[in-house]
Amino acid sequence: MKEFKIAVIPGDGIGVDITEQALKVMEKVAAKYDTKLNFTELKAGGCAIDAFGTPLPTETLEECKKSDAVLLGAVGGPKWDTLPGDQRPEKALLGLRGGLGLYANLRPAKVYDVLKSASPLKDSIIEKGVDLLVVRELVGGIYFGERGRRTVDGLNAAYDTEQYNVEEIKRIAHVAFKSAMKRNKKVTSVDKANILEASRLWRETVIEVSKEYPEVELNHLYVDNTAMQLVKDPSQFDVILTNNIFGDILSDEASMITGSIGMLASSSLREDSFGMYEPIHGSAPDIAGMDLANPLAQILSAAMLFEYSLGMAEAARDIEAAIERVLNNGYRTGDIYTEGMKKVGTKEMGALVLAEI
Ligand code: IPM
Ligand code: MG
Repeated sequence: MKEFKIAVIPGDGIGVDITEQALKVMEKVAAKYDTKLNFTELKAGGCAIDAFGTPLPTETLEECKKSDAVLLGAVGGPKWDTLPGDQRPEKALLGLRGGLGLYANLRPAKVYDVLKSASPLKDSIIEKGVDLLVVRELVGGIYFGERGRRTVDGLNAAYDTEQYNVEEIKRIAHVAFKSAMKRNKKVTSVDKANILEASRLWRETVIEVSKEYPEVELNHLYVDNTAMQLVKDPSQFDVILTNNIFGDILSDEASMITGSIGMLASSSLREDSFGMYEPIHGSAPDIAGMDLANPLAQILSAAMLFEYSLGMAEAARDIEAAIERVLNNGYRTGDIYTEGMKKVGTKEMGALVLAEI
């Protein structure tokens, strides 16, 4: 029997609701492959502020380091919104990403056939299909650059800095090109090279790296144009390679195109097999604990965890297939509900997937 140690951070809001469902699915799939998962539940985000006075307790980070993978729900909520920047729940996310060296954030956005009607785009656009992967740099750029307050011309001013070195760009570019080799061999590198110096270095470096992948077609788009192209014709994209902040924004847009942010999973990776897996949606405090959240993004995150960190691709396929069957049978949580479907809550959705494993 194989054994793995999984750090589980439900976090705040619906993070708790959806993680509960994902864990049940994980246990059942693991058992099918004669594998034992040892879960260690840890606190981070607002709940850690309440319990320990800090969004990312040292113990949480250290336990994650000792694990094979981390499953994370979501952090944040209005209760902690007025705290100073470095004490906010979101700081826990950045601390985990940075502290664990997870520089590559993969956010696949795919339209399920049966959910096409949930997409806000016209049928004529969505008919062409959407299956793209946002490869977002996750531990650099403006999220981690120097920031502060100062007085300029006698006025209170604030600044944040976008900085990348060539090595940071190279390693994320390699992830994008390698991903493209397994997909449709197309990389769109997104920047703002008409204005930003960091984007000019980004573009030069991506072109250098691309020479090692002659089979992959590379093009460059400015971020504003990308935002437009995504709603005009998302089928043109395969892999979108971009920096931390553009990736944050474009992945929300890409997710909405698919119909629901409640369906999209993500993985944050580095060179070895270790990774952190989380849905791309937030903690949705307005519906927390009400059995309304869609647990599918978190269950799909668990599937990615099996594939990338545990080397169990078959288990991942089992989970994905189970979800497709549940959707094909007409079950929907509120966020993806359309007329004529069967509306279910978080727990029932979890149970339905579980029954299909
Ligand atoms: C995301 C989120 C986070 C980010 C927030 C919660 C800090 O929006 O994972 O996309 O900006 O990276
Ligand atoms: Mg975001």
